[in-house]
Amino acid sequence: MANRTTIFAVLILSSALFSCNAAGPGPSGGAVFNVLSFGAKPGKKQESTQAFIKAWNAACNFNGQSTLLIPLGIYKLGETIFRGPCKSIIPITVQVQGTLQAVSDPSAYSGDGWISFDSVNGLILTGGGTIDGQGRVLWQYNNCKTNGNCVLLAASIYMNNVNNSNVNGINLINSMGFHMHITGSNLIMIHSLSITAPGNSPNTDGIHISKSNTVEVSMSVIRTGDDCISIGQGSTNVTINTVTCGPGHGISVGSLGKEPKELDVKGLIVKNCTLLGTTNGIRIKTYPASNPSRASGMLFQDIVMDNVMNPIIIDQHYGTKSTKPSLVNIHDVDYQNIRGTTLSPIAVSLMCSSQVPCQNVHLQNINLQFKGIGRRPTSVCANAKVGYSGLQIPPPCKI
Ligand SMILES: *[C@@H]1O[C@H](CO)[C@@H](O)[C@H](O)[C@H]1NC(C)=O
Ligand SMILES: *[C@@H]1O[C@H](CO)[C@@H](O)[C@H](O)[C@H]1NC(C)=O
Ligand SMILES: *[C@@H]1O[C@H](CO)[C@@H](O)[C@H](O)[C@H]1NC(C)=O
Repeated sequence: MANRTTIFAVLILSSALFSCNAAGPGPSGGAVFNVLSFGAKPGKKQESTQAFIKAWNAACNFNGQSTLLIPLGIYKLGETIFRGPCKSIIPITVQVQGTLQAVSDPSAYSGDGWISFDSVNGLILTGGGTIDGQGRVLWQYNNCKTNGNCVLLAASIYMNNVNNSNVNGINLINSMGFHMHITGSNLIMIHSLSITAPGNSPNTDGIHISKSNTVEVSMSVIRTGDDCISIGQGSTNVTINTVTCGPGHGISVGSLGKEPKELDVKGLIVKNCTLLGTTNGIRIKTYPASNPSRASGMLFQDIVMDNVMNPIIIDQHYGTKSTKPSLVNIHDVDYQNIRGTTLSPIAVSLMCSSQVPCQNVHLQNINLQFKGIGRRPTSVCANAKVGYSGLQIPPPCKI
C-alpha cells in the first residue's frame, strides 16, 4: 500500500492537472469529471451523448479516485455506452444529479441498453437524479402483443459484466423497455430506487436479472406495466428485501425455458415485500415444450398481498399455446407467512409440468382472503408435491 503522503501528493497533482479544464477535486479527494466540462449541453434540445462518453472515458482512465458528475439540468442522450475496464481506483462513482432524457427516436438504439455499463469492476451509481426513458413517445414501437419474437426496446440501464457495484438513490421513469437489466454480473447491491411507469405501459419491467450471481435489491418502490422484478435464467443467489411493487405483474421467476440450453436459477430469497394491486404476486413462469433446466432453492417470506389477482402462482404453460410439457424442473420452493387479499378466488395456483413435477414445495402460514361474494378462496395444483404447515387459507389442494 502506498503511504498517505504519496496518495495526497498524487491527488493534489491530479486535481491541479485537471481542474483547469475538465476535472476538479472530488468530495473524497479524488478527481471529478463534470460532463459540462466535456461539452454537455443542458436544456431539452441538444444531445449530450458524446460529451458524456468523453467524460466517462476520462474518469475511467484517470489514475486515481474518480467521479463522473452529471449536475442538475436536463440532458438529452441517445445510446450511451460506458465501457470499462477502468484504470481508476475502485470504485468509480457516477453521480447523477440531473435528469437524463432518452432521444425519442427508436433508430437511435442498436443494442440492449439506452445507458449501458460494460465490463466495469466497482461502480457506484447514485446522486438522486432521474433517468427518463421517454417511453410515452417510444411505447408505440413495441409490438410484443402481436409478435412473439419481437425485439424489446432498450433498457434504461443495462449492465453487462459489471462486478462489485452499488446502485442507489436514483429515480427511473417511463423506460422504453426494461428500467434496469443486469446480466453477466456479480455482486450488485441495489437499494433506494424509485421506478415508475404507467400500469398499462408495455414490457416496462422494473429490474430484470439474468446470468448473474449475488444481486440484492432492497428498500425500493417499483410501479410499472410489467414485472416488478424478474429473475431470468442463470440467476443465482438473488435477494429481494423490502420492496413495494404495484401496479404491474408482480415478482417473477422467469420466464424460463424460452431459449435452448438455459442456465439454472438457484438461490432466491424474496422477503418483507408488499404487492399492491398487481396481476400476480410471486410467480414462477416457464414455457411449455422447453429444453431442460432447473429452478430451485427459493424462499418467499413475509409477503403482503393487497388485492392481487394471482397471489401465489406457478405457471409452466406460460407464453405459448403448446400442450407439450415444460422441462424446467422446479423444486425446493418455500412460501412462508404470505398474507393479505386476493382479487380472484384462486389464491394459490401450482400448475407444474407433467414431465418434471414440482418437488419439495412447502407452504407455511398462508392467509389470503377473498373479498368477493359467495366464494371462498381456493387452491389448484397439478403435478406438484406440496407440503403444508400452519394456517392455510385457502385450504390445501385436494390430491
Ligand atoms: C467479473 O467477475 C467475473 C467472475 O469472477 C469475471 O470473469 C469477470 O472478468 C469480472 N469482470 C470484470 C469487469 O472485472
Ligand atoms: C450470496 O449473497 C449474499 C448477499 O446477499 C452474500 O453475502 C453471499 O456471500 C453470497 N453467496 C455466494 C455463494 O455467492
Ligand atoms: C419490512 O418492510 C417495511 C416496509 O414495508 C419496513 O418499514 C421494515 O423496516 C422492513 N423490515 C425489515 C426487517 O426489513
